[in-house]
Amino acid sequence: MRSTFAAAAVLASTASGQLYPDQSPYNHTCELQNPLLSCPPQNSSLVDSCCVETFGGLVLSTQFWSTYTGGEQAGQLLPQDTWTLHGLWPDFCSGLYTSYCDLTRQYDPIPSPNTTTGKPDGVPVPAYNGSNIGTFLEPFGKYDLLEYMNNYWIAQNQDNAGFWGHEFSKHATCFSTFNVPCYGPQYRKHEEVVDFFETAIQYYKRFPTFDWLEEVDITPSNCTTYSYEAIRDPLVEQHGGLPFIGCTGPRYNTTEAGKNSTDNGYTVLSEVWYYEYVYGRPQEMNTIPVNASATYYTNCAKAEGAIHYPERTNGSVRVPTLPY
Ligand SMILES: *[C@@H]1O[C@H](CO)[C@@H](O)[C@H](O)[C@H]1NC(C)=O
Ligand SMILES: *[C@@H]1O[C@H](CO)[C@@H](O)[C@H](O)[C@H]1NC(C)=O
Ligand SMILES: *[C@@H]1O[C@H](CO)[C@@H](O)[C@H](O)[C@H]1NC(C)=O
Ligand SMILES: *[C@@H]1O[C@H](CO)[C@@H](O)[C@H](O)[C@H]1NC(C)=O
Ligand SMILES: *[C@@H]1O[C@H](CO)[C@@H](O)[C@H](O)[C@H]1NC(C)=O
Ligand SMILES: *[C@@H]1O[C@H](CO)[C@@H](O)[C@H](O)[C@H]1NC(C)=O
Ligand SMILES: *[C@@H]1O[C@H](CO)[C@@H](O)[C@H](O)[C@H]1NC(C)=O
Ligand SMILES: *[C@@H]1O[C@H](CO)[C@@H](O)[C@H](O)[C@H]1NC(C)=O
Ligand SMILES: *[C@@H]1O[C@H](CO)[C@@H](O)[C@H](O)[C@H]1NC(C)=O
Repeated sequence: MRSTFAAAAVLASTASGQLYPDQSPYNHTCELQNPLLSCPPQNSSLVDSCCVETFGGLVLSTQFWSTYTGGEQAGQLLPQDTWTLHGLWPDFCSGLYTSYCDLTRQYDPIPSPNTTTGKPDGVPVPAYNGSNIGTFLEPFGKYDLLEYMNNYWIAQNQDNAGFWGHEFSKHATCFSTFNVPCYGPQYRKHEEVVDFFETAIQYYKRFPTFDWLEEVDITPSNCTTYSYEAIRDPLVEQHGGLPFIGCTGPRYNTTEAGKNSTDNGYTVLSEVWYYEYVYGRPQEMNTIPVNASATYYTNCAKAEGAIHYPERTNGSVRVPTLPY
């Protein structure tokens, strides 16, 4: 869906373990650093890049609406009446982004794209074949976190932990503020993985998409359809910025309902991305909402009543074992 890659992707990891060449030399006592806003970008020679996001300052909290997981037999089910967590992404302030920024922390069993730039000349991203990233939480005793993730951070056509590894290695390694040096000389292996998962969840909890839509009577239905504006407006009102609203399924003008239309947007609601700038570390949740790009804020059809918000498949859903 997103296809803009920045040249910075080739900077990947260096021998020093630094995320990118101009990581700041400061000692990461964030109480001593003004919690500056992440966009427009701050200069990492002048601020502590562990305490202010200086690399991926446009933070996206992303969620899915899907109707099945493909892992139902193994008990991988969707949480009733709740969108699922997709990730927390650090875009550049320009809206471009890069991925797989530190191949020493590559825990994604199915890298996508399979090179750091998404192009044949990029650095290959090797498939990870070690213990899944969920096991990294065990030495920290974070079984509650694991349980939460197995309720709300749900993969499709892949096991949940493989998907968490994908989100971490593709995206989290591109934040300046989750970089290993930020944790100081007493760093415990995978500490930043725990920190990232907890942070992604904090953002997710802040944006209860299902409830926001339900409050205006937009609920999953295999009988009714909805208009783009009707879905957009409550989300803008609650969040404060225009989110990206993503759809899949057939294009409207290939469907019976849209036969003579020139609207070729997609018709099945599937994703929402909320955009934020962040003061200080993203972990502190001190954010301001921003609008999605004026040139890419939806791929859904805009014709009246063009969008399906499908009910989930019977047998793909469970009542969560712990609260949202
Ligand atoms: C960071 O700590 C090192 C010692 O580990 C010290 O030499 C350096 O001056 C410190 N940097 C700053 C900006 O205080
Ligand atoms: C960042 O600050 C350094 C030191 O003042 C300066 O040399 C450099 O040009 C600045 N970089 C940018 C992108 O402004
Ligand atoms: C990446 O995937 C493409 C398309 O499947 C394939 O042709 C290419 O060889 C792969 N590259 C690497 C480095 O695995
Ligand atoms: C597992 O991945 C490592 C690192 O990419 C590679 O060296 C090794 O050959 C892989 N092992 C198997 C069994 O695929
Ligand atoms: C499409 O156009 C045809 C011919 O003008 C018309 O008969 C048909 O009712 C139209 N269909 C829709 C869905 O508007
Ligand atoms: C759908 O709309 C697009 C853009 O308006 C147009 O190029 C395409 O030919 C249309 N397809 C059909 C099947 O009507
Ligand atoms: C988003 O765009 C709308 C319409 O252009 C504008 O009124 C609003 O101030 C923008 N919101 C933010 C948070 O930038
Ligand atoms: C609703 O429709 C979707 C998409 O066609 C389907 O996958 C799902 O099983 C349906 N849900 C129910 C409860 O019938
Ligand atoms: C799903 O379950 C509901 C309620 O039990 C039932 O009405 C509906 O027909 C089922 N849908 C499918 C596709 O099996």
